[in-house]
Amino acid sequence: MYRFRQDLQHKEAVKIAVSHQKVMMCLNENPLNPYPELKEEFHQILANIPLNRYFNKVTQELKHELTEYTGLDPNYILMGNGADELLYYLFTSLNDPNSYLLSLAPSYFDYTSYSSAVGMSSRYLHLDQNFNFEEENFLQLLQPRDCKLGVICNPNNPTGNLFSKSKIVNILKNTDKLVLVDEAYFEFCGVSLIDQVEKYSNLIILRTFSKSFAAAGLRFGYLISNPDNIKEINKVVTAFNLSLLIQAFALVIIRNKEIFLKNIDEIVQERKYVFAALKKIDKITPINSSTNFITFTAGERTRKLFEYLQNQGIALRAVWQHPVLENHIRVTISNKKDNKFFLQEVKDFMKE
Ligand SMILES: Cc1ncc(COP(=O)(O)O)c(C=O)c1O
Repeated sequence: MYRFRQDLQHKEAVKIAVSHQKVMMCLNENPLNPYPELKEEFHQILANIPLNRYFNKVTQELKHELTEYTGLDPNYILMGNGADELLYYLFTSLNDPNSYLLSLAPSYFDYTSYSSAVGMSSRYLHLDQNFNFEEENFLQLLQPRDCKLGVICNPNNPTGNLFSKSKIVNILKNTDKLVLVDEAYFEFCGVSLIDQVEKYSNLIILRTFSKSFAAAGLRFGYLISNPDNIKEINKVVTAFNLSLLIQAFALVIIRNKEIFLKNIDEIVQERKYVFAALKKIDKITPINSSTNFITFTAGERTRKLFEYLQNQGIALRAVWQHPVLENHIRVTISNKKDNKFFLQEVKDFMKE
């Protein structure tokens, strides 16, 4: 007898299949570890968090900082354990019998993982050969009653390209359906829909500290939307979902945002350098990126290159599952040393 929900019986648990190597360029992490520079401030704030309590003023202080950063009132903001947990809550709040979400494909795989975890299914609009899509097609697929949400990852993971803001605004304007814009990588391009939140009550924006704020291990993300939407999503959020310790670390990080914003500039410079260098290598074609990663192909030799890099201690991400990204792999931009090492190894392999 199977004791759990029937639809879980043949589902796999979410597993991030990457090999652990000396040089991790596979998970779009940030090479900067914030701890050494912010050690004193981290220690100070932690000393003032009473762990025997549920409530602490750190929550209001963090919300206040996010308000400054986003330009929106605290009631527009919902905080969670990484963007992933907020996806889970959002899907839970939307899941009716037969409901599904519409996402682009290829896009962030966990829209599918978490929606199916809560019993909601996914449908897709496939990107064209330029990794783009027509808004009319998206709008049409959003129409059926059971479609509860449209999801646009912008810039898109794993292709790395940015969809135009006017395209997304046109979608928001022409549908009553909720549209989630995942801005996990927004700081690497500076393009955001946040200035449209007050105008479009169907817009939801998702952000994370995992990428630009160099805090993937911290697990902090936030969702931004009209207060009425936040109120509804909040109905499925567990009490005290976000540890005071996470909030304390996030507060120190955002109070020191200049360190991270400067680091983002450096990553963007490195991305330009790696892109140009990859382009110069015979038979390598990189996709223009607005993020902290570059997806590229080495044609027929892609899989062998992937294995070769792995043997040299460099982990990349295989993103070739979708036909539009056949023979593509994704490299996360790291520090100068890792990037040089990676480029040299690619050159060496491609010379043979
Ligand atoms: C597009 C996108 N959204 C959300 C996430 C999840 O972010 P978090 O680490 O905050 O859960 C990622 C992580 O890679 C991502 O690429």
